[in-house]
Amino acid sequence: MQFNAPRGTNDILPPASLKWQYIEKITRELFADYNYEEIRTPIFEYTELFQRGIGEVTDIVEKEMYTFEDKGGRSITLRPEGTASVIRSFLENKIYGQAQPTKYYYIGPMFRYERPQSGRFRQFHQLGVEAVGSNDPALDAEIISLGMRFLLKFGLEDLSLHLNSVGCKSCRPKYVDVLKDYLIKNRDLLCDDCKSRIERNPLRVLDCKNERCHSVINDAPKIVDHLCGECDEHFSSVQEYLDILKIDYNINPKLVRGLDYYTNTAFEIKDSSLGAQNTVFGGGRYNGLAEEVGGKDIPGIGFALGIERLLLSIEAQNIELPVEKGIDLYITVIGENAKKEAFRLNDLLRNTGFKTDIDYLNRSVRSQMKSADRMNADYTIILGEDELKNDSATIRNMKTGDEKSIKLSSLIEEMKQLVYGEEKQDE
Ligand code: HAM
Repeated sequence: MQFNAPRGTNDILPPASLKWQYIEKITRELFADYNYEEIRTPIFEYTELFQRGIGEVTDIVEKEMYTFEDKGGRSITLRPEGTASVIRSFLENKIYGQAQPTKYYYIGPMFRYERPQSGRFRQFHQLGVEAVGSNDPALDAEIISLGMRFLLKFGLEDLSLHLNSVGCKSCRPKYVDVLKDYLIKNRDLLCDDCKSRIERNPLRVLDCKNERCHSVINDAPKIVDHLCGECDEHFSSVQEYLDILKIDYNINPKLVRGLDYYTNTAFEIKDSSLGAQNTVFGGGRYNGLAEEVGGKDIPGIGFALGIERLLLSIEAQNIELPVEKGIDLYITVIGENAKKEAFRLNDLLRNTGFKTDIDYLNRSVRSQMKSADRMNADYTIILGEDELKNDSATIRNMKTGDEKSIKLSSLIEEMKQLVYGEEKQDE
């Protein structure tokens, strides 16, 4: 019997995992430049957090959550996203009592029971940021610019930033009424899903990917024309700050995002080189979320990006990430005595900071050299009885083929010289 990984999940194997490590490294470096600190929340939460936070009438909560009862009879859900957990943690740990805003980032797996396809998985990985405790539109622009800069760090091009404002709890309901009237009038032209959305959550209609609904959606009243004075001013100000940073954007009145917690700024970055799942990342403000899940009125804004989608973009744009698999030295062994010395030297080299390896299958010299090649070793050394007896061995540069005879007893010094050059040795 053979097991396969569950549908919609992936093993991340080397050398691909090197790319993941590289992305995570860039994330940590860049996000630290913007003064965001890492938060790690549990992989599962009580189901109600997501029901209240994300909204009952959303695809995520209605259809996509991995929900189960634990042995204590509590309803538990594998997190489908990170924002609700971050706000839960912010409230639970009373972080609001500290100087604001609080700027967090996270990297980790999320779970949604979606139909798997290119760029869409059931376990996927997000990296995200959340800035909590300020409603300053400059912070919206900071978050958006951080997202853009992050993508540019990988050399991505042809990205488009879509921007909208979805208003607040005072102006949005009025807009929703106007939208609802319009949708009722055009009901017959909508797909069955959208027909049922008219009553339950008309904003979701704007999100519909069904071709049939496009003409109705295109002519629908726009939320930006129905914002209250405060929201309108906030939205203009976000744009002004983006202009200061010379960040281009398209105002997209259809952009409402798939989660109900958004207020004011909503944005997505799309990569035209991707297929149907072309949103690399999305985010926005969620000034009502803390109140929904904890009763405190605390503003926040953030975004999350799918790492799998980022990798697809990188691939689609033929970008080679600067990652290289390799070790400094492979020790090729002949005979049992030499194996023991090689084993000792291998340990010593590693303890000195070199990446090294030896054979563990008692293979022929030829096979060991093949392993060295496969491991992308910069150097190899052959160790047999003669080398031990004469305290002498030959180091081979695998790239140039150059060979150098050295004293085995000064292997560490020789390696320092070869790998780091003169400077390091003088330090
Ligand atoms: P979201 O738009 O649901 O927002 O997800 C953000 C990103 O996660 C998407 O743009 C996509 O790259 C990736 N993603 C989502 N679902 C999948 C999937 N099934 N497979 C692969 N990638 C996926 C949120 O999750 C919000 N929490 C973002 C946010 C943070 N808003 C404010 N702060």
